[in-house]
Amino acid sequence: MKTISFTLNGAPRKVTIEDDRMLLWVLRDDLGTTGPKYGCGRALCGSCTVLVNDESVRACMTRATSIDGKSIVTIEGLAAGDQLHPIQAAFVKHAGFQCGFCTPGMILGAYSLLKKTPKPTRAHIAQAMDRHLCRCGAHVRIVDAIEEAAAVMAGGAK
Ligand code: FES
Ligand code: FES
Repeated sequence: MKTISFTLNGAPRKVTIEDDRMLLWVLRDDLGTTGPKYGCGRALCGSCTVLVNDESVRACMTRATSIDGKSIVTIEGLAAGDQLHPIQAAFVKHAGFQCGFCTPGMILGAYSLLKKTPKPTRAHIAQAMDRHLCRCGAHVRIVDAIEEAAAVMAGGAK
């Protein structure tokens, strides 16, 4: 067992966990943060994606002990109060989802992409999001949303 401290959506948290416990289960089961979803459990679908120090990671295959001292953001922490993040707003505007299961991971994956590449081409977006799967087939609208979010964010939005 190991005790780790980190911030989750800006709030300090401390948990004592088994060495091999995965981050997804710490977030969902231990801390009740259910935005990250369990899809494949093998780092293949992206539905469990969260941000660790602003980098997207797959929580299903990330040992929770590795986040000691780091900052974790889940979809619950992306909006600023009632103000949706521009990526969230663009997903709403373009209906970049159907059932919504993949959406938290998609949005955080897009966040990480736009942090590294603020002005991606459409082809770059499609390639970068290729490892995020949407069983509802909303991929075209998802790329539309990320394109728009990139333009809005380049205009000075957070
Ligand atoms: S549940 Fe983690 S990548 Fe699919
Ligand atoms: S919106 Fe249903 S899996 Fe993507």
